[in-house]
Amino acid sequence: MKDERDPHTGHKTTGHEWNGIKELNTRIPYAVWIFIVITHVFALGYWVLMPAFPLVTTYTKGLLGYDDKKQVAVALQQDAERHAGLLEEINSYSYDRLAADSDLMHAVQKRGKVLFIDNCSACHGRDARGQSGFPSLIDGDSLWDGTPQGMWETVRVGINSDHPDSRKSQMLAFGSDEMLQSVDIDSVIEYVRSLAKIDAQLNPKAVAKGQKVFAANCAACHGETAKGDPKQGVPNLADSVWLYGGEAKDIYTTVWHGRIGRMPAWEDRLTPEQRKILVLYLLGKQQEELANGKK
Ligand code: HEC
Ligand code: HEC
Repeated sequence: MKDERDPHTGHKTTGHEWNGIKELNTRIPYAVWIFIVITHVFALGYWVLMPAFPLVTTYTKGLLGYDDKKQVAVALQQDAERHAGLLEEINSYSYDRLAADSDLMHAVQKRGKVLFIDNCSACHGRDARGQSGFPSLIDGDSLWDGTPQGMWETVRVGINSDHPDSRKSQMLAFGSDEMLQSVDIDSVIEYVRSLAKIDAQLNPKAVAKGQKVFAANCAACHGETAKGDPKQGVPNLADSVWLYGGEAKDIYTTVWHGRIGRMPAWEDRLTPEQRKILVLYLLGKQQEELANGKK
């Protein structure tokens, strides 16, 4: 192959030719040389300063002594120290004192939210507003003792759980256990609906009869005025909050088949501090909810 020069640019050609187009044998541009030199210098510097090459039992450590593992260990240690301080305070402060400390509450809200989503939201909903059979935890209406200590205890032992101290409650199955006649059940449902001031056409005769059935069969648990009993986890029937629904058919199912809500015990699954954080988180949400309601 003989040397050939391109008549237009004066460059030699490489001798390759495609469809009559010839490739010029031009120099590599300076920019590329500069780039190659800079990257090589950088690589050499990096190899000398930072950990780079594996050796048989160790590796070249680099002059700067940088170590990812050490950095992580330091970060973990710092986090644990901060965390330990926080847990210590949560453990020893009263609920009121914690609630009044906005810095602490900020940390509590963040951790509480994660704990709640991970452990509680499947039943109580991500927003803690509950669903049928699972009570809202932020409406200020509670089946059991709704004080911070009471809630903490509920979470510790559960409700109708396998914990030895479990809270226990049960709505009896008046229909399927043949404790009441159908007609009496119908009238007591009418009475219960009258208590809750449901906007519906009620039969006054059935309401009056239902009141007697209620006094004889239900008042022992639900109370004379049907306001419930937080010591036994018995719900208030004279309000507009329903656990299982306030439609006639829902109340019918409740009274006919009975109900037994189950909440697992968390004593072995969450630390006392985590349970306290959850209670504080829920109380915070409850306050927000009530404040929104007042607006
Ligand atoms: C498997 C479902 C389930 C899970 C998970 C669950 N709960 Fe419950 N929880 C219930 C049920 C059901 C009740 C109501 C029981 C009843 O009918 O008496 C309840 C009741 C409660 C109560 C009492 C409410 C009241 O009105 O007195 C609190 C407080 C509570 N749960 C907090 C929590 C917290 C905090 C978590 C997460 C650590 C949690 N629950 C996880 C099912 C669950
Ligand atoms: C042994 C005590 C006991 C007796 C007696 C009893 N209840 Fe209940 N009742 C409960 C408990 C406890 C619950 C809550 C069940 C749960 O949380 O799973 C309940 C729940 C209910 C509910 C559901 C409330 C809601 O928010 O969805 C209705 C309605 C109700 N009872 C009506 C009655 C009527 C009517 C009678 C009489 C015929 C009666 N109860 C007798 C203990 C009782």
